[in-house]
Order: sequence, then structure tokens, then C-alpha cells
Amino acid sequence: MADQQQQGGVSMEKIVSLCRRRGFVFPSSEIYGGFAATYDFGPLGFLLKKNIEKVWRAWNVESRDDMVEIEGAIFMHPKVWEASGHVGGFSDLLVEDLVTHKRYRADHLIEDAKILENAGALKVEEVDTIIKEHNLKSPDGNPLSPAKRFNLLVKTHLGPVEDEASVVYLKGESCQNIYVDWKPVLETTHRKLPFGIAQIGKAFRNEITVKNFIFRTREFEQMDVQYFCKPDEADQWYEYWKKNRQDFYTQAMGFSPDDIKWRQHDPDERAFYAKDAWDVQYKFGEIGFQEVEGVHHRGNYDLTQHQKFSGTDLSYFDEASGERFLPYIIECSGGFNRLFLASMFEFYREDGDRKILGFPPKLAPYKAAVFPLLRNKEDLVKKAREVYEGLHKKFMVAWDDRGNIGKRYYSQDEIGTPYCITIDFDTLEKGDVTVRDRDTAAQERVKIEDLEAFIAKKLE
Ligand code: GAP
Repeated sequence: MADQQQQGGVSMEKIVSLCRRRGFVFPSSEIYGGFAATYDFGPLGFLLKKNIEKVWRAWNVESRDDMVEIEGAIFMHPKVWEASGHVGGFSDLLVEDLVTHKRYRADHLIEDAKILENAGALKVEEVDTIIKEHNLKSPDGNPLSPAKRFNLLVKTHLGPVEDEASVVYLKGESCQNIYVDWKPVLETTHRKLPFGIAQIGKAFRNEITVKNFIFRTREFEQMDVQYFCKPDEADQWYEYWKKNRQDFYTQAMGFSPDDIKWRQHDPDERAFYAKDAWDVQYKFGEIGFQEVEGVHHRGNYDLTQHQKFSGTDLSYFDEASGERFLPYIIECSGGFNRLFLASMFEFYREDGDRKILGFPPKLAPYKAAVFPLLRNKEDLVKKAREVYEGLHKKFMVAWDDRGNIGKRYYSQDEIGTPYCITIDFDTLEKGDVTVRDRDTAAQERVKIEDLEAFIAKKLE
């Protein structure tokens, strides 16, 4: 990828190492040597992910009265994927190193060689010509095979017999449940256009190459908003949703506007369903600006296809005009794993040998950590446990009594805990504690009975 050149900024290696060391993300099946770009979210990663989900849901669903949310199954009728166009047209161009037989995405090799900036729309013959004219070689310096199409759908069989009739596909894009459920959602919620259906769900793609940690994997999650509207209002809603996504990243997630960029797809680069398509890109440290979300004007492509293949009338009756039509859909499809990774890059900083994840309190896995000043003083430990247990009922709070206070601060900074609460000898006499702020390192005394309100206020 042309953008994936060294551009300065935090290195991926640092993020990967922090994720493993502190339990945000582990290679899956690590005790077996790991398994090809599959990852598990560890205890802290799980908490961060749930907090990102809360922010996404608050912004996209709970704060709006024109949105409902569903949770669809991973297995769907195989015809869904024929209707959607994925069985026929969801493919990348593959080339093979003729010596090592390693396989590569042709567009990535062309972009990495800086022949073109966006090679995603090239046809088989165009790739073959470029390989020839530029004498393009594999990353190992060997000749490449002619290009061929490679379908990305992950296929499996359901049931006891493995034949053609039992073939099913894992969801190539999570949103298909939303189109297929459009009719029952409409019937059960009695909504009027415009309104949206949101969903967070798994997607699976047999990516030819997987790289950059959790950026591109074969199993991932998508966070979708599919907004259904009248055809003649679709362009205006498309503009609305582009603005909304910019605000989501900068206001709801707290990312710097400098780290967000937009890229419009060329007409021949768009996915088969899109009338217009923009990528929201995030600056992933040294690898540069990369797609984190797709905002697509899907027209009535999906409902037309599902109506045709299912034989079910999916039209909407507009009482005001007395017209019946298939709504248009504006799609905002974000990658959850990429949003997670972007959050790690966005809030990571170093101050000397201190590593800090400066998460806003609402994203931080732990909202506070509680320490006894000394671990061998029974009365301090007893009081600190009381404080910890009181707060733990309300918030995710960490307990730490290892090493000295300085080390505990460093350790909490590295996982993004915004407040460290120390119980010391004064606490026993006066009933107050020291609260140290991660970002300013300033310390203040707070009464034990005021701690809950203190933390709650920071989470607002
Ligand atoms: N329903 C539309 C759709 O799937 P997409 O642009 O192919 O559009 C949406 O995917 C988002 O899903 C992307 O912007 C990206 O964040 C995420 N995504 C796509 N492929 C991915 C992969 N292999 N690994 C991780 N995230 C991926």
C-alpha cells in the first residue's frame, strides 16, 4: 500500500508488544504457536472493547430516536450470498510467487511498488500488463504468475453430509442480516422512513494476505449503521452521515481531527453495490492513513436483490404520497477491530521511560486503581480493601499492592487508568485519600465518601 510507508509516529511493534504484555490482545492458540492472524482479546482488551461498544451505541443508537439495533445470526441462507452478489463478485486479484508459491494480493504489490496509489480496481489483464511492463517481482524477488480472481467468502458445510446442498457461507459482511430483516423490523416496530438499523457483528473473509496485527484478519467485527430513506432524500442523508462519522471519531471517540482523513473511491474501484463510496481513514502511527470505516451510498441494490431472490415483497408503503417503493440505504460500516487498534494508537504516548495510554475515562478499562501505601501494614491494607470493594461495586477498579508506589503508577499509566487512589497513614486519621491524575500527575486529597461522585463526574 502506498500509504503504508514509514510516516513517523508510533510503531506497530510498540502497540503489539504492549497489547501482549498487558493483556489487551493475545495471538490466538498461542500455546500451539499461534494460528495465522487470529487473535483473542485479553482481560483489558475485552474491557476496552466493551467501552468502545458503549460509546458507539450511545452515539449511534441510544441518543437517537430514528435507530433500532439488532443482532443477527452468523449462518444465513446460502441464497443471501448469491443475492448480495458476494458469490459471484466478492473477490480480489491473486498472484503467486512462481518459486516459493506464496500468494499475494496483486493490488497490494502494485501499491507497495508505488506504481499506482490505488490499484484495487484493476482488471486481470491490467495487472498482467503492469507486472510485465514494470517487471514486478514478489517480495522475495521472484517472478509472479498471471493474476486470477480469488473469492473471499469463507465456505463451510452444515449438517452431517458434506455435499453441495450443505454448503453455507460465513458472513462476508455483517450487514446482510439487516437487509434480510428489514421487513420484520418494519412490521414489528411500525417505523416510518427515514430510520436506521444498527448492528455489531462478526464478518469473515478469506483474505489472501493478512497483516498489521488486528488491522486485516480473516475474522473480524463490523459496526454497522444502515439508514433507510426515500430515494429522493438519499443524497442529502449521505451528506448527513458523512458529517456524522467525522463527528463520531472526533467528538464521541475523542480522536484528533488531524488523524482522520477521507478518501473517495474512484467509480471503477467501488464495491459492486455502491453508487458512491468514501473511506474514513485513520492515521495508524507509522503505517499511515488507512481505512477504518466505509460510508456507502447503496441505493436500493440490496433490497432489489433480496426481493428478487427471495420472492418476498420488500417494498415500503408511504402513506403520505400513497406510493410503494424500495427505500435507498446509506451505510456506515466501521471495522471494530480497526477502531480498537486506532484507539490504541490515538491515546498511546511516551514521557521518558513512562508509557501512557491516555484514554478518556469512558474508554479506560479501569476507571481507577486503589493501593495501600505499604503492603505489609495490616491497617492500611484493610482500609484500602474497604475503599476498593466499595468502588468496585460501581466501576471497574483495579487493586495493586505490588512494588513501590512509583512502579504502580507507571503500571497503571501503561494500561490507561486515569486515577490512582492511595490509602496512607493520613487516611486512617482523616478519612481522605490521595488521588493522582494520570495526565497531569497532580495529586489531591479526596474524602473517601466523595470518591464515587468524583469518579462518576469524570465519566460524564
Ligand atoms: N458492508 C460494507 C462493508 O463490508 P467494507 O469496506 O468491505 O464494507 C467495512 O468493510 C469495514 O470493515 C472496513 O472499513 C474495515 O474497517 C473493516 N474490515 C474490512 N475487512 C477487514 C479485515 N479483513 N480485517 C479487519 N477489518 C476489516
